[in-house]
Amino acid sequence: MTNFSFAVLVSGNGSNLQAMIDAIEGNQISGKICCVLSNKGDAYGLQRAQEVKIPTEVVSNKDFETREGFDAEMVRVLSSYNPDLVVLAGFMRILSPVFVNAFPGKILNIHPSLLPKYPGLNTHERVLESSDNIHGITVHFVDESLDGGPICAQSSLEITTRSVKQLEQQIHKLEHELYPKVVSWFGEGLLRLTEGKVYFENRELKIGEINEK
Ligand code: GRF
Repeated sequence: MTNFSFAVLVSGNGSNLQAMIDAIEGNQISGKICCVLSNKGDAYGLQRAQEVKIPTEVVSNKDFETREGFDAEMVRVLSSYNPDLVVLAGFMRILSPVFVNAFPGKILNIHPSLLPKYPGLNTHERVLESSDNIHGITVHFVDESLDGGPICAQSSLEITTRSVKQLEQQIHKLEHELYPKVVSWFGEGLLRLTEGKVYFENRELKIGEINEK
């Protein structure tokens, strides 16, 4: 894709956004971030963007009575940047069909578990309460289901700690390696979603088939 540009949506710290910024600077992603949008005006991710002169936008969900109203405003704002891809990076709102259908096959999310295990919140706590000895992360296309869209890539680790904080740090490290890679694959036209199926280099992927490239 020439002049690949993507929007990043954050609600908080934005360490995954930072990994994308660094990957662009290091030429691991050839493209640019056209804007960073947050539903929270005080999200640290917005500052990270401003530091490198990426345009920022705030659309507060509190200003809207309905999810659809909020989503329609985000679509309006994002559409003015004409992004090739929308990257959710710690964006803590569930998206309605109004948003998902505005960018078909063009929304990615990262989730801190090996989906379909542990959708939803507090994944590290739940994995530590279980008897699992493997944990990991999933990058997936977004559809209307919560953390249920078609999977693009996963990365895993062996659980060697009982500390939620430590596990979270280890998981973040995996995220910062994998997510920019997946975004760059999309930008290079290697990865796409067609009729609900994920294709990599024109071959249909089975769940979690790609860990490394
Ligand atoms: C990450 O763990 C991601 O998997 C989840 O939210 C967290 C965001 O972290 N969706 P950060 O804001 O990128 O630091």
